[in-house]
Amino acid sequence: MKLSVKQGDLFRSASEAAVVALFEDEEILQGAAAGVDRESGGLLGEVLNRGDFSGQVNQTSLIYPRRPCPLKRVIAVGLGKRSEITPERIRGAFARAARQIRSLNAGEISASLDFGNLALSPEVLTEAVVEGVRLGLYRFESFKTGKRDPGREIASLSIVEADAASLRRIRAAMKTSKVITDSVCLARDLVSMPANEMTPRDLANEARKSARGTKLRCRVVGPAAMRKLGMKALLAVAAGSAEPPRFIILEYRGGEKGGPVIVFVGKGLTFDSGGISLKPAEKMERMKDDMAGGAAVIAALRAAARLFLPVNLVGLVPAAENLPGGKAYRPGDIVRSLSGQTIEIVTTDAEGRLILADALTYAGRFKPAAIIDLATLTGACVVALGDHVIGMLGNDDGLKRQLREAGDLSGERVWELPLWEEYDELIRGEAADLKNSGGRAGGAITAAAFLSQFTGGYPWVHLDIAGPAWLAKEKSYIPKGASGVGVRLLLQFIRSRCAQGKGD
Ligand code: BES
Ligand code: MN
Ligand code: ZN
Repeated sequence: MKLSVKQGDLFRSASEAAVVALFEDEEILQGAAAGVDRESGGLLGEVLNRGDFSGQVNQTSLIYPRRPCPLKRVIAVGLGKRSEITPERIRGAFARAARQIRSLNAGEISASLDFGNLALSPEVLTEAVVEGVRLGLYRFESFKTGKRDPGREIASLSIVEADAASLRRIRAAMKTSKVITDSVCLARDLVSMPANEMTPRDLANEARKSARGTKLRCRVVGPAAMRKLGMKALLAVAAGSAEPPRFIILEYRGGEKGGPVIVFVGKGLTFDSGGISLKPAEKMERMKDDMAGGAAVIAALRAAARLFLPVNLVGLVPAAENLPGGKAYRPGDIVRSLSGQTIEIVTTDAEGRLILADALTYAGRFKPAAIIDLATLTGACVVALGDHVIGMLGNDDGLKRQLREAGDLSGERVWELPLWEEYDELIRGEAADLKNSGGRAGGAITAAAFLSQFTGGYPWVHLDIAGPAWLAKEKSYIPKGASGVGVRLLLQFIRSRCAQGKGD
């Protein structure tokens, strides 16, 4: 999709479909809507007067203006109450409008950021509109050879802006937003790919590919080197599969030499059958998404490098497939992790924390100022919080606050669960130092308590994305299926840190 900025008025700019965003119950049309109403012979006002459209959140109305109006179609979309406006509402409204436009087979969208008097900057508005449109229109169709879902792909999105001073800022924000939304779509593609086409080796190749043409450096560790290093927890999980594991290391040095390093760790389980502790058949197919954390880390690093963010970043993705097999690890086994701590296997289905344990230990090599891990770690987190929010646990209040703020700005919100020392008891081992499951009660918390044993005392936050990583039903600007969650959260976290001068 081509993104462009044009100087002028929305109502004068020829387009197959113009989006006009309106607030709830406002009698007098403001901003770009006023001009469109005038040029369309009062059609917008008419729709409002008849009561067909009141501007409620995500309500839409389609209008066909008569010539000589250069707009072939106008889609009015509701933003709700003006006093309650957020970037998230704008993302959702533009996603709704864009999908409706696609269903009409119109190939281009134009929009204005002039919603009347608003306290949001042109940058925030531009990013919200571009994210809404591009993320809302995402489809995964790589494997459809026959009839595709209806609706021609939308070829272009133009923002029409009258104010010359804002043009440059909007253009720059569009570029940024293009990089970010590209990365979210990359993460969604990686997660949507079936496990037979996205093995640990494939994921490593994708990481290598994502580094191309950027300042990212990608290294990939295979099983022989893992053995030498002592990553036996990662090796144990991979043992039941004929697909060899990979440990992916991405490095981006955009900050000061010798400056602080932030490490992102992403769970890269390309398929989680549960192993010998086999999962029930129902919904098992979803478990191809168990590398969503890894995908988010790869995609976020790619975007950071393409945006030249002034920060030093490392991305670590332990990648493996969890299958039962003749060489599989078993319940009762004791494995020695890279940290030296021994772990008793209670269930082979609690595999994520094992591969993360070795990756978190490895993260210590970088003496990180912060470690953030993302993982589709527990069904318990889905039970506790549903799919609207990321579960957050960690050992550093400042880091948690920064993530909470980044969550509110990006719309990828986090909700904290307690990580009190009382929970440590539940993961203490009988014959070994630790056991890999604390049972059903407090499952999301005991999983994090387990991870905390491998963080080496560095500031650390764990994000359990098991809920929002995969949607059974589309919502707002996230189509059904892989959401790409975490990419925008991590990028917002880094950008805010850079803006506060802590990033280099
Ligand atoms: N990948 C799953 C967690 C998961 C479950 C993500 C459902 C998304 C939806 C993880 O490896 C797992 O199996 N966790 C177990 C842990 C338990 C055995 C201690 C779980 O949550 O049931
Ligand atoms: Mn599992
Ligand atoms: Zn898993």
